[in-house]
Amino acid sequence: MCFSKHLAKFAMLIQLALLLLCYGVGNVHCVHENSKDLQSLLDFKQGVTTDPNRALSSWNTSVHYCRWSGVMCTPTRPWRVSALNLTGKSLAGEITSSLVNLTLLSQLDLSSNSFSGQLPPLGGLQLLQTIYLNDNSLDGTIPDALTNCSNLVNLDLSNNKLSGVIPPKIGLLSNLDYLDLSSNNLTGVIPPTFPNLTRLSSCRLRSNQLEGSIPDGLWQMSNMGQLILHDNTLSGEIPRTINMSRLQFLGLQWNRLGKTLPSNFGDAVPSLLELGLGANMFEGHIPASLGNASSLELIDLSVNHFTGQIPASLGKLSSLNFLNLESNQLETGDSQSWEFLHALSNCRDLLRLSLYDNRLQGVIPDSIGNISVGLERLFLGRNYLSGILPKPQ
Ligand SMILES: *[C@@H]1O[C@H](CO)[C@@H](O)[C@H](O)[C@H]1NC(C)=O
Ligand SMILES: *[C@@H]1O[C@H](CO)[C@@H](O)[C@H](O)[C@H]1NC(C)=O
Ligand SMILES: *[C@@H]1O[C@H](CO)[C@@H](O)[C@H](O)[C@H]1NC(C)=O
Ligand SMILES: *[C@@H]1O[C@H](CO)[C@@H](O)[C@H](O)[C@H]1NC(C)=O
Ligand SMILES: *[C@@H]1O[C@H](CO)[C@@H](O)[C@H](O)[C@H]1NC(C)=O
Ligand SMILES: *[C@@H]1O[C@H](CO)[C@@H](O)[C@H](O)[C@H]1NC(C)=O
Ligand SMILES: *[C@@H]1O[C@H](CO)[C@@H](O)[C@H](O)[C@H]1NC(C)=O
Ligand SMILES: *[C@@H]1O[C@H](CO)[C@@H](O)[C@H](O)[C@H]1NC(C)=O
Ligand SMILES: *[C@@H]1O[C@H](CO)[C@@H](O)[C@H](O)[C@H]1NC(C)=O
Repeated sequence: MCFSKHLAKFAMLIQLALLLLCYGVGNVHCVHENSKDLQSLLDFKQGVTTDPNRALSSWNTSVHYCRWSGVMCTPTRPWRVSALNLTGKSLAGEITSSLVNLTLLSQLDLSSNSFSGQLPPLGGLQLLQTIYLNDNSLDGTIPDALTNCSNLVNLDLSNNKLSGVIPPKIGLLSNLDYLDLSSNNLTGVIPPTFPNLTRLSSCRLRSNQLEGSIPDGLWQMSNMGQLILHDNTLSGEIPRTINMSRLQFLGLQWNRLGKTLPSNFGDAVPSLLELGLGANMFEGHIPASLGNASSLELIDLSVNHFTGQIPASLGKLSSLNFLNLESNQLETGDSQSWEFLHALSNCRDLLRLSLYDNRLQGVIPDSIGNISVGLERLFLGRNYLSGILPKPQ
């Protein structure tokens, strides 16, 4: 076993030496073992019209392409391109379709440049695991053929100008873990096949023009940790069947979601850290079970139609630092309805509390003086309150 380990090391050294041979030998022609990969990269370079920092200056045929800046190759002969990483190099131009000939490519990172034009046809690249084309100016649609990249784990196309729909067959990407299509101009629905992405842990689709309801099955995706859908026109409701034990970040602000939150909501998302439901059409009571999501740090339920009393169970959230309930129709009156305020004194990290623009009435209880000493902002305006606030200590 030890022997074969040494042998492998030796073989690697020889390969390294061969690679080195190709380097720094001036105009001596270098043997490029895979002319298809070489041609594909040269075509890619042709597509780059602006390279202000000379990021591609090493890309010439007297240097083996495995030594070109941003190119990584397989560790064994015939050295084939396995990764292309030119993130943040201020490149502009189009991404040529020649990349489809880099058949062993597994990582493609051209993020944070100024590439324009359409997405290259990457559908044939079966080994692709990572596509980072975010923060460019790519337009056109996301081709359905992209769902052929069955080994895809990370797909980030955020901050471009992509339009059209999310490929209906996206559910075929059964290894997908990270998906970010935020800040584009995507329309249509979240495809019904979406819940088939059982490994998905991060789903970011914010700031598009997605509409329709969120597929029911999405609320049972057990690996989802981040579901960021804010700033779309999604409608429908959160079903009682919700069960997302790993969900930490739920961002649904600025949509048209509504109806009541299921009474078991807090029990169904026990790991939640941040809950953003602001600027929607939610109505009915704030479920008392929210107090069971004991890691919650941020709650934004502002600008909805929540009614009834504020549940005292929120006082169980000892890590809470931001609670925004403003612009709803929440009520107080008798002393029992103020119990929540007393309970919130348990939230020692509370920095910001807004109850602005509701239907709170009566005398503000003294227990307001017991709210977190670290409190920086307290908004109580636009209610029907009276009484005297204690001086901050
Ligand atoms: C090719 O690139 C190498 C490394 O950057 C450089 O030293 C060499 O001058 C270049 N050759 C040509 C012909 O541009
Ligand atoms: C590309 O390189 C940058 C550093 O230059 C690194 O942070 C990033 O993770 C790399 N991308 C991939 C896909 O490995
Ligand atoms: C891929 O390679 C083949 C053969 O080398 C070539 O004919 C074809 O034009 C290449 N495809 C692209 C999109 O560059
Ligand atoms: C992708 O898969 C579709 C079937 O879903 C097939 O028709 C198409 O030829 C494939 N495209 C590529 C580029 O492999
Ligand atoms: C999604 O998964 C279900 C079963 O789990 C299967 O019947 C269906 O064909 C899958 N759809 C797609 C588009 O992958
Ligand atoms: C989004 O697409 C619509 C047409 O569907 C177009 O009017 C609008 O300008 C686009 N917005 C952006 C930011 O590209
Ligand atoms: C929630 O999902 C887990 C699997 O992720 C399952 O074990 C559990 O029974 C489900 N709970 C409910 C109430 O359906
Ligand atoms: C969740 O909270 C509700 C209301 O505060 C409570 O009655 C219930 O027992 C809690 N459930 C669990 C599982 O802690
Ligand atoms: C404030 O908290 C202290 C200590 O927990 C308690 O003794 C006191 O009664 C509280 N004051 C009000 C007005 O709730």
